[in-house]
Parts: sequence; structure tokens; C-alpha cells
Amino acid sequence: MKYEVPARVRESAATPIRDLDRYREAAAQAVHDPDGFWLDVTRARVAWSKEPTEGLVGGFDTIKRGPLSWFGDGELNVTVSCLDRHLASRGDKVAILWEGDEPGDVRKITYRELHAEVCKAANALTELGLKRGERAIIYMGMVPEAAIAMLACARIGAVHSVVFGGFSAEALRDRIRDCGAEIVITQDVGLRGSKHIPLKRTTDEALEGSPSVKKVLVYKRSDVEVPWNEGRDVWWHDAVGGASAEHEPHAFEAEHPLFVLYTSGSTGRPKGVVHTSGGYLTYTSYTHATVFDLREDDVYACVADVGWITGHSYIVYGPLANGATTLMFESIPTYPDAGRYWDMVERHKITIFYTAPTAIRALAAQGDAHVDKRDLSSLRVLGTVGEPINPEAWEWYYDVVGKGRCNIVDTWWQTETGGIAISPIAPATPTAPGSATLPMPGIQPSLRTPEGAVIRGPGQGLLCIDHPWPGQARTVWGDHDRFVATYFSTIEGAYFTGDGCRRDADGYHWITGRVDDVLNVSGHRMGTAEFEAAIVSVDSVAEAAVVGYPHDLKGQGVYAYVVAQEGETVDLTELNQACRSQIGAHAKLDKIQVVPGLPKTRSGKVMRRILRKIAEGRGDELGDTSTLADPGVVDVIREGALV
Ligand code: WTA
Repeated sequence: MKYEVPARVRESAATPIRDLDRYREAAAQAVHDPDGFWLDVTRARVAWSKEPTEGLVGGFDTIKRGPLSWFGDGELNVTVSCLDRHLASRGDKVAILWEGDEPGDVRKITYRELHAEVCKAANALTELGLKRGERAIIYMGMVPEAAIAMLACARIGAVHSVVFGGFSAEALRDRIRDCGAEIVITQDVGLRGSKHIPLKRTTDEALEGSPSVKKVLVYKRSDVEVPWNEGRDVWWHDAVGGASAEHEPHAFEAEHPLFVLYTSGSTGRPKGVVHTSGGYLTYTSYTHATVFDLREDDVYACVADVGWITGHSYIVYGPLANGATTLMFESIPTYPDAGRYWDMVERHKITIFYTAPTAIRALAAQGDAHVDKRDLSSLRVLGTVGEPINPEAWEWYYDVVGKGRCNIVDTWWQTETGGIAISPIAPATPTAPGSATLPMPGIQPSLRTPEGAVIRGPGQGLLCIDHPWPGQARTVWGDHDRFVATYFSTIEGAYFTGDGCRRDADGYHWITGRVDDVLNVSGHRMGTAEFEAAIVSVDSVAEAAVVGYPHDLKGQGVYAYVVAQEGETVDLTELNQACRSQIGAHAKLDKIQVVPGLPKTRSGKVMRRILRKIAEGRGDELGDTSTLADPGVVDVIREGALV
């Protein structure tokens, strides 16, 4: 069943892609002449100090030898596109509309004010010794100063790495060490649903044994006293408050790294995905304007966290490059009650609202009353991201929140893609509940068999992208071989996304979820390997295997199979504590089954396929298990399964 684009979404579109014919033209042009297409886009959207003449250099066939580049002969300062160039025409327009933890605790920061704050912060960071190319960790909650810190780093050519405020001290320490950060920018405490998140205390703990960090810059969010390390710690209000609001931006080459963002994969520790300047900004600006059909008077609200890629691309860089009013939301969707989003939509007259399926499901479960009591008539475009959306949740979003008057953009993309890759374009694309629909112009997806053969027409397979695009990640910080091994070795000559996908007769894409060992729990991406490492660090545990299973609210739940050490009993709360302290508060085991052994092949490889089936409640569909080293263990696991 398809939903046509509602008339009020179609009318007065600002994007040139206002119908499917225009979409097909743009997509064909981008296939036919990718360099020409993207050079036109970037010249129109980005304020270059030196305009590029060069498009793509290198490609997936040469990626083993080194990162590819886009617009390589261009020079820019990303913040000039996001700030300086708006001063003349949009100086008094609200750039950041901040809603604090308490409803109605609002700060409105205009482009002029944001420009001044970023200049001050840039001067302060320079004063603290941070230089071009050096790394700054940003470990903050959703305060405007987090965005200001990101932009201030970009202004001076320093590389930021934002670490989500839910990560533990150990996870923070790993990231600080991996990128060799010079400075950590944090705050005394974060506020979420009236609870304090002890960001400074966690930073202190993480810094034990992180010699690279010379300074800690601390934004004061509350009156809570925090431990202080004289000589190392500096208050934001002293350093930034006292700095000059004049800052002459220097232009950097297009491929200068803008940020590193750590994300989970199938194996090992999280990887530092590297995004660069010119291509990333071009891509986020283009996709933000196109997918949401951004208009000058829109009030745009993405309620993600800056700790994830969505916050980078669609709260900070894309919207600010486009001169939008972008909301930053400090709290949670259920504080003080499950009507918080709709209360904000009514008060701020939000026109574009972008959230995750997990939030939609959780709010839908609370019934319609919270939505119905608010005036949501300002809404025009509703977005989702982060995981497959089930048709029931989609329809609730469409009918109850959108009242059938809004288009829904189900945006598929990844930390690695930098920006939206497969999605409806609000005024142009008829939608189908659960489908991310069509690729963005410039994205050439393919479905592949595990052997790499391209599946044509309708079908299902591994989702790959066959041609580079400006927003894609360039490398893994300090480990280009890992970048190549992770994304370019499964399928020769193509980028492998890690997702499975079905394509229907209309060419619409239906993402089926990860086909690797990455979990997606409430839109949080986590590796099974990270959970397993945390679990086996508990003394009483000999072995563990973690898999995902379908979960009504979270999308996926975490199911752990745990083998105790000989003669020991496993304390289940200890397992969750280990995950919490090694990964973070968002890493919870939903089900823990203590088992006598794990199903393994004769060569010792854990058969996850079997464990996944049992966790999904499909233990009777295992097929032939006779090749296992100890087939009997499967029966025991199946009988004791927690489903
Ligand atoms: C999943 C988030 C289905 C997918 C921007 C991908 C989705 C992973 C969608 C990336 C969607 C994201 N439909 N699945 N609309 N959007 N995903 O890096 O499995 O945190 O590979 O980036 O989320 O998660 P990440």
C-alpha cells in the first residue's frame, strides 16, 4: 500500500526535486556524471575560500592504497558555511533553539550570537593550546555549548570526537587513548529527566591513565560541586567567557579531518570513523535540504543526541550550513510525561520533526491522548532514523501524529555514510510503511549475493553501495587497513553496509536489518563482541555469546548465553554491572541464560545462527545440527531458553 504525498507537503516545495520526474532526472545525472553533479551541488551549497575544480579522486578499486578524496583542490572553513555567511541575511534568525530538561526552559541563540560564541570558544581553545589537527573529546549532554564546542574545534582545524554522555569511564578512556586527545570538553553534570549524569566525575575517572590529555574544559550546567584538578581543569565561563568574539577563520583543505566518531562493528573495539570537511558538509547540507524540503521559516527539530552521527549531521552541520533553526533537546521523551515531544511541537510550532522508531513505539504504547491534546498543525514532515520501522509504528506516526497531512521520511543511513543515503524526498516520494524507498541522487545501491553477484530487479540480498559519494567516511582513525577490511573486503569493488535489504518491483528498498554481529537496541548501535568482552571479564564466567532477538519496543533485545567457570555460579547482576561499567548505562542484557556449553563447530567456532534462532523462539527450526562438536548441548539450551 502506497501513500501519496499529501498536497500541503507537495505545494510550494523549496527543493528542486519536487516530484518523481525531477528525482529521476537528478539521479540519472548523478550516475552519468558524478563529478559534475557534486561539483554543482557543492558550489551552490558550500562557502569555499577556494572553489574546487576536482571531483572524486581515487575510488573503491584503489581504496586499499589509501583514502579517496572529493573536491581535493578546494579550501574551506566549515564554520564559515555554518555561521559567517549567514550573518548578513540571517543574523537575527534563531540558529539554535534549545529546550532544556524542564519544559519551557528555553534558550534562543541567533546566528549572530552563535557566531560570537563559536569565535570565543575557538580563541579559548587556542589559548588552551589546542592546535590544528589535534583531537578534542567532547563528552557532554545536550546543551548548546556541545554544538559550540564542535564548531569551535572545526573553526581552528582541530578534530573533535564527541562521546555520547551515556558511555562509561572505561569506554571514554578507550576513545581518548585511541585518538590521542589533547583536551576533553565536558560539563559538571548532565540533566536528563531531572536526573544528574556525573559527566565531570566520569571524565576524571577516565583520565586516570590518559597522559595525552593536558586540559579539561568544563561547562557549568548546575550548582553541583564537582572535584577539581587545579592546573588541568578550566571553567568554560572563565576561558570562553573572557575570550574575544573576533576570530579570523583559516581555510583548510577539503579533506582535512573534521571529526572522528566511534562506532561499533562486528569485531573488536569500536572504530573511529573519520569524516572530512568539504565532502561531508556538501552531503549533509544537500540531503538535509532535499529530504526534508527545508524552507526558510521552518522550525526543524531532530531529537537525537550529538553523541551519535544523527546529531552531527542533522542537528549541527547540515541544518546550520542551511541556515535553519535547529532544535537541541536536553531531556527525554517521557519527561515529565509521554507528551513532551508534542508539547514542544505545539509551543515551538515545529514544522519538521525527526526521531527514532524506538521512541515512536514507546510513545504509541502510551495511547493517543498525549498527542491529541496538543495542536500539531504546524508539522509538515516527519522523519525516522536508526532502525527498521515496523508498519504499525509508521501508521501511528502518520495518522495520530501527522493526521494524514504530513509525509514520513524513513531515512536509512549509517555513521559511515555521513548522511541520509536511502529515503523518501518529502514533496516527491510516495511512501510505503516500513520502506526507506529510493536512493538519494548520487547513491548507487546494489543488492548482492554472499558471493558478490549483483541481484537485478526485485530481490533480497546484502546491501552495498557501488560508487563513492562525498559524505562517506574516509578511513578508520589510525587504521586504514581495518577500514578496508571492514567495508571493502566482503564484496570486491563495493562498499558493504552490513545490512540486508529487499527491493520490490517499484525499486523501493526495505531494510531487513544487520546481517553482521552488530546489535541495534533502541537505535543504539552496539557490537556483540563488546558485550561478550564485558561478560567474560567477570571471574565466574568461562565463555559467553551474545545475540539479538526481536523486541517489541527496543527493536532488538540483547540475549546472553553464559557458561560458568567450573564449580562457580554466575551472579547475573554482576554481568549487567560489567556491561554498564565497561560500555555504558545504555548497555543492558535483557535475557541471560546460563548454559553448560556453547554450540560450536568442530573447529571451535560458535554457531551464532543457532543461538539466534533459539533466542527468537524458533528453536524448532534449527535444521541439521549433527556437524556440531557436541550436538547434545543444543537440546539443553533449547529446553532452558528464556522465550
Ligand atoms: C540501521 C544511524 C532501517 C541500519 C544513522 C544501519 C536503519 C545502522 C535505518 C546504522 C532505517 C539506520 N531503516 N535501518 N531508516 N537507519 N538503520 O551508524 O542497520 O548508528 O546499518 O547510524 O542503523 O546505525 P548508525
